[in-house]
Amino acid sequence: MNSMVFQEKNVLITGGLGFIGSSIAREVVALGGNVTLLDACLEPYGWNQANIQEIQNRVRFIKGDIRDQQLMDRLTRESDYVFHMAAQVGREISMEQPVLDTDVNCIGTLHLLETARSMQKPPKIIFAGSRGQVGEPQYLPVDEDHPDHPTDIYGINKLAAEKYCLLYNHVYDLPVTSLRLNNVYGPRCQMHAGFYGILNWFMSNTMQDKPITVYGKGTQTRDYIYIDDVVQAFIQTAVIPETNGQMYYVGSGKETVFIDMVREIIRVVGKGKIEYVPFPESREKIDIKRFVVSTKKLEQSTGWKAQTDLLTGIERTFSYYQSFLNDYIHREQV
Ligand SMILES: NC(=O)c1ccc[n+]([C@@H]2O[C@H](COP(=O)([O-])OP(=O)(O)OC[C@H]3O[C@@H](n4cnc5c(N)ncnc54)[C@H](O)[C@@H]3O)[C@@H](O)[C@H]2O)c1
Repeated sequence: MNSMVFQEKNVLITGGLGFIGSSIAREVVALGGNVTLLDACLEPYGWNQANIQEIQNRVRFIKGDIRDQQLMDRLTRESDYVFHMAAQVGREISMEQPVLDTDVNCIGTLHLLETARSMQKPPKIIFAGSRGQVGEPQYLPVDEDHPDHPTDIYGINKLAAEKYCLLYNHVYDLPVTSLRLNNVYGPRCQMHAGFYGILNWFMSNTMQDKPITVYGKGTQTRDYIYIDDVVQAFIQTAVIPETNGQMYYVGSGKETVFIDMVREIIRVVGKGKIEYVPFPESREKIDIKRFVVSTKKLEQSTGWKAQTDLLTGIERTFSYYQSFLNDYIHREQV
């Protein structure tokens, strides 16, 4: 890829102080882009000033909410690219506060699309979708033809938001792509809560000599994908027009048993204790037993392929938090 592909391009990243948004920001800055980070710094999500420490003098940060239509309108109009990461990201939170989830994940996304469709030259928008849109798979690996039957409000609203994006492509020709992400882990993921980013949460516990709590026997499977691979998927999707109007899965393509992931963390960190507890009823009802995706479609459209195996990814994650864990346990107010 051209090393200055974003030169003189204005790039808006919503949820830009969070895990994935800030990681995309570092790469876009390296590729010459003028980056604006929009983040409302809401609890209990993953915003962290430490995430942008190395690039803070080279980006513009705006504390604001994607539900603020006027703000979204102004920022979208300035942009050539929008990486849309801001979201209500908790599955259980979505069940407890479905209206909040709908407000952020659906209405927030519509604000962006509505401005974009009124522009002469709309920005390329890349939407962060989720494996949660699928529900319990009918076959594995899950591919883009698999039907969607989400098991929670978060999955339903992410699906609706993705459908808005694809509709606006179809009807108004907006350059929009949805990337459905699997379980992303790595440096800069929040370490203060276990309701998402579970691998990082377990590493945080282990590093602080706290037990790792596993629901049931840990036999469910997941597709863990390292952050650098996710960033590359976003960057390549942004610059390849063939991806417009498409939805793709982003994952490692490897099915990992949950408890094996836990054992790998303990091996890399060199300590750790597992505590098995029964599944809480609210969680068991929305939990998915097996999950892994095929990434053939994305590979064919962009040449992207996951590069980082789980062991290497966990080692890199551990290495980062050996230096910075404190910034993630006690984060500064923004
Ligand atoms: N991390 C994963 O494993 C994963 C998996 C599937 C999908 N995703 C999606 O990727 C995106 C980024 O997730 P992440 O892991 O970086 O989470 P994160 O919590 O680290 O980042 C999300 C950021 O969005 C901000 N935000 C939330 N509501 C906002 C609002 N109304 N206005 C402005 N900012 C707001 C939060 O303050 C936070 O900094 C989300 O859309 C999420 O649904 C993540």
